[in-house]
Amino acid sequence: MTVEQNINTEIMDKLTKVCLCKAIPRSKIKKAIAEGARTVAAVKRVTGAGSGNCCGRRCTPKIEEILGDYQEV
Ligand code: FES
Repeated sequence: MTVEQNINTEIMDKLTKVCLCKAIPRSKIKKAIAEGARTVAAVKRVTGAGSGNCCGRRCTPKIEEILGDYQEV
């Protein structure tokens, strides 16, 4: 990945909300994973994602996908 692609990814990670109810960006989810959260429950506990009105119905699949991407690398 080029430096420009890295910067674009970082910008998009800050702008893209994974948990819409709590306005938690993808960057915060990735940071939690990088700092050791390895399960959906751990990511939710650290970030506060999943505690909104939909009780994680919308963000849980997205968190699982990001965790999956992380484990593939
Ligand atoms: S989108 Fe995360 S709790 Fe609703």
